[in-house]
Amino acid sequence: MCGIIAYIGKDRVKDVLLDGLEALEYRGYDSAGLYIAGAGPIKAVGPVANLRKKAALMPDGNLGIAHTRWATHGKPSEANAHPHTGRGSIWAVHNGIIENHSELRQKLMGEGRVFASETDSEVVPHLIERAMERGASFEDAVFETVRVLKGAFGLAIAHRDAPDRMVAVRMGSPLVIGVARGGRIIASDAAPVIRHTRDVVYLKDGDVAIVSADSHRIFSFLKEAVSREGETVPFGAEEAKRGGYEHFMLKEIMEGPEVLRNAIRGRIAKDGWRVKLGGLESNDERLRSIERVVIAGCGTSYYAGVVGKYLIESLADIPVEADIASELRYREPILTPKTLLIALSQSGETADTLEAVREAKRKGAFTLGIVNVVGSSIARETDAGIYNHAGPEVSVASTKAFISQTAVLALVALFLGSQRNLGASRRKEVLEELSALPEKMERILANRGLVERIAKRYAESGSMLYIGRKYMMPLAYEGALKLKEVSYIHAEGYGAGELKHGPLALVSESFPVFALAPRDSVYEKTLSNMEEVRARGADVIALVTEGDAEASRIAKETIEIPETIECLYPALAAVPLQLFAYYAAVARGLNVDRPRNLAKSVTVE
Ligand code: G6P
Repeated sequence: MCGIIAYIGKDRVKDVLLDGLEALEYRGYDSAGLYIAGAGPIKAVGPVANLRKKAALMPDGNLGIAHTRWATHGKPSEANAHPHTGRGSIWAVHNGIIENHSELRQKLMGEGRVFASETDSEVVPHLIERAMERGASFEDAVFETVRVLKGAFGLAIAHRDAPDRMVAVRMGSPLVIGVARGGRIIASDAAPVIRHTRDVVYLKDGDVAIVSADSHRIFSFLKEAVSREGETVPFGAEEAKRGGYEHFMLKEIMEGPEVLRNAIRGRIAKDGWRVKLGGLESNDERLRSIERVVIAGCGTSYYAGVVGKYLIESLADIPVEADIASELRYREPILTPKTLLIALSQSGETADTLEAVREAKRKGAFTLGIVNVVGSSIARETDAGIYNHAGPEVSVASTKAFISQTAVLALVALFLGSQRNLGASRRKEVLEELSALPEKMERILANRGLVERIAKRYAESGSMLYIGRKYMMPLAYEGALKLKEVSYIHAEGYGAGELKHGPLALVSESFPVFALAPRDSVYEKTLSNMEEVRARGADVIALVTEGDAEASRIAKETIEIPETIECLYPALAAVPLQLFAYYAAVARGLNVDRPRNLAKSVTVE
């Protein structure tokens, strides 16, 4: 995820910026750049060390803005790295996504402005410069500009001819101001700030801050003064990288609501029932001819693929197979030009998934990548793509990537459905519910103390069984995978209907069962399965819809999630499963973020 550091003050700006960029490296990035007023910009692809080398030749100054970029719009390159400018007077660094960038860009180009990058961000300095050329002051031009931007943006902006101040803007993308002795810092999180000061002011959405070396004033987008309390950062540098959480895994689980917002941002048309996915729209004809879908992935991505199968079959009415990529590539699969192969991968580098893509291409299938890492191998080699925009995932166990994948797959299912028989009202219903998920997920996360207590209680179990039906079956697999990965407790996931065909023989008093039983179309059946295992003496931990007294009577422990429509329960149900595995691992004193024997990205067979 992109990082921002900007500084104005007495210290050596170059050092503050470069050290700050290094402190932001943990967020993941592909290129970096900085602008120092009076000294100009420098940019470099790759590690901050590359930028540092270039900076050695550059004069210093007393105001500068800098950025680590994680590509979203446009490949990693110097031209796409920030800071961006229009005609050289305004320089800006940006985190987030500007949804209406293409219409703004068209308009600005129509007026003769020349764009140097493929980014959504570049519209910002152009708009500010245009307003200034029309007579506005620097600050007023910023106010004017932020009011026309749609989407999420954290901005730090410098004006070549105003070296006494810079401007910070926050809308949906965090920013903090550090109040140091010799100057002020603007940053995307506290990590690069705390080496200078622990006194900070967190901006809120809709804030514009005008920052000089010894003061800052905060306004609304309508230029009304607002006041924000200062705070003291209570944690150290390492913890700051984890957003103040003990582990990346918990930080990443807590990012779920934001991840959902990023997955759907700009992808729902104003009418509320059309899905806008550039990668699919540009292949409209080809996708209409598809008669079968095959989804390939590994690990957690494969389980998201099974959710995708259910989604696409129910919403788009196309037969779908979800396949483990390592099986698909070797089992002589039937893939034809009328097959759509969807490759699901957080990293975009998983060897088996990449090979499945190559096999599909050899056989003439149309390939679509749903990938988180921009510019990764799968993103490059597939015929069309959709990015998750989930930001880097550091912890080995996939958490936020899974949540994002289920949301993107719902969008894909709706898109394919719209090409076939799926009515507008059903599409609207799903999209409205999808938009309501982030807030519902926040409620689950606020209740994580309960999951922690239950996980601690079962942390010494020798084995656990996870059961669920329909959309909850892949979630049962995923819950069990999460538990074994991070807590090393043996766990199995099963379709609850399969209980009598084997796993029931395992169930006893010392064999807790995690039952996934939200109020969906198979709820009653799952309830019967819960009764069956309870009758054999097992403790049942049930994941249920809020207010479900019936399931609570059977279960020993109940974790509630808010109500949603059946096909969207996977995103919500994933969160308590992730938290349960996390807290069980913590209770066992394990290295949660780096489980033994596992790698984040499996680039070899
Ligand atoms: C590894 C990771 C898993 C991940 C899987 C697939 O096993 O530990 O968390 O789900 O690879 O990775 P991908 O990057 O293709 O989603």
